[in-house]
Amino acid sequence: MNTIQIKDKTFAVSIREEDILREVSRVADEINRDLAGKKPIFLSVLNGSFMFTADLMKRITIPCEISFVKLASYQGVTSTGVIKEVIGLNEDISGRTVVVVEDIVDTGLTMQRLLETLGTRGPSEIHIATLLVKPDKLKVDLNIEYAAMRIPNDFIVGYGLDYDGMGRNYKDIYTVINEE
Ligand code: IMP
Repeated sequence: MNTIQIKDKTFAVSIREEDILREVSRVADEINRDLAGKKPIFLSVLNGSFMFTADLMKRITIPCEISFVKLASYQGVTSTGVIKEVIGLNEDISGRTVVVVEDIVDTGLTMQRLLETLGTRGPSEIHIATLLVKPDKLKVDLNIEYAAMRIPNDFIVGYGLDYDGMGRNYKDIYTVINEE
C-alpha cells in the first residue's frame, strides 16, 4: 500500500516499518547504555506514542518501569492559547530518572509544557525519547537526546500518528501529498 486516503487528504508512504525499527533499535541501544543502573521510569505519552513505546520497550534490556500519561487540551489564556494538562500520572517520580516517550516533537511546546509539569514533581533527571522531530519547526530550546528520526515539515500519519483520529494503525509512516 503506497498511498492511503484519510478524509480529504492523500498520503504516500515515506518511512517503511523496517527503517523505523532499525532507528528505534538504535535509540534503545543508546538508552540501555546511557541509563544502565538508573532504573528509569518511562512515561509514554498517549495516544500517539503507543506503537513507538511498544517497539522501544521490547528492546530495553535494563531494569525499568513504564507508565502512561495523557495530555488533555483545553482552551485557556496562555501565550499559545491552549493549556495541556498531564493526566494519569499516579507514580511517585521524585528522585527518579524519567524518560518521556513521545511520538513527535513539532514546535516543542507540548514537550516543554510536559517537562515543566513533571519538573514540579521532583525527578532527579528527565530525558526525552521521541520517534520523530521536525527540526525546522522547533520553537523552543529542548535537549532531545533520543530521537529515532528527523523529518521535514510535512504532515504525517501512521505508526501511531493520526490525522483527525484516523491512521494510527498503519505500520509504516505516510506523508501528506495533497493539502486541500
Ligand atoms: P508540538 O507541541 O507542536 O511539538 O506538537 C506535538 C504534537 O502535535 C504531537 O504529539 C502530535 O500529537 C501532533 N503532531 C505534530 N506534527 C504531527 C504530524 O505530522 N502528524 C500527526 N500529529 C502531529
